[in-house]
Amino acid sequence: MNPAPIGVFDSGIGGLSVLAALRAELPHERFVYIADAGFAPYGERDAAHVVERSRWLTQWLRAQHSVKAVVVACNTATAAAIQHLRDGHPGLPLVGVEPALKPSIIASQTRRIGVWATRGTLASAKFTALHASLANQATFVLQPCDGLAEAIEHEASTGDATKTIALCDQYMRTTSRFGVKNDEIDTLVLGCTHYPFAAAHLRAVLGAQVQLVDTGAPVARQTRRLLEAAGNLAAPAPGGGTMQLLATGDPAALRAASTRWLGLRDTAILTLP
Ligand code: DGL
Repeated sequence: MNPAPIGVFDSGIGGLSVLAALRAELPHERFVYIADAGFAPYGERDAAHVVERSRWLTQWLRAQHSVKAVVVACNTATAAAIQHLRDGHPGLPLVGVEPALKPSIIASQTRRIGVWATRGTLASAKFTALHASLANQATFVLQPCDGLAEAIEHEASTGDATKTIALCDQYMRTTSRFGVKNDEIDTLVLGCTHYPFAAAHLRAVLGAQVQLVDTGAPVARQTRRLLEAAGNLAAPAPGGGTMQLLATGDPAALRAASTRWLGLRDTAILTLP
């Protein structure tokens, strides 16, 4: 048993979609979550920036919180940096997220699958290899969703969903025909951890037959497996599972989103330099 916390980070609030699944899977654990809002978005920046931030955040989580594992709750950061982090932190369990292409093949009947992710994720060598390894099993329609993560951040802090809705509508049009007929896209992979927060709008437009696939639950299960195998789960204890939230920039979006999506109220959000 190991009472040390688990570090989780993303460029902003997106990783909360993973944190919610982690909390459900691992209710006795302590989590330290960082929204790297001061250095966001990651998705349209060069990989070197994302690698540098991922290294800094992982180092900080280890130095300040002696974390027993780090979950990179961001597809863009995983694609750019997970190998660098593994090389730099041998022995530290690191869990990344990647667009759920394999699960989407199982979910899809038409074998036409939309993949929404950031430009950075779709351009990465890691995603290119994943896509190439599965391209004979389904047709994946790749859609870089510039600006969508930022719009979701803006919506969280101001309540104004105009931009989120406009971009979702635009990208649904450009991804092209959704539906359950043979040549239609019946499954949409949400390959950025921010996008599950736009799911209500996507469902309303696409209807219940089109499936939305994200990665929160499998990532949480993988984190549990790694900790369990190493005997590193926290012992159940009254008041055991806790949550600490930090932001490197304006904490407004994180405050609002953690209340709305995780039900956290009056949680102090510390600001990192
Ligand atoms: N949430 C991040 C991801 O999963 C990226 C958002 C951003 O562009 O900063 O890819």
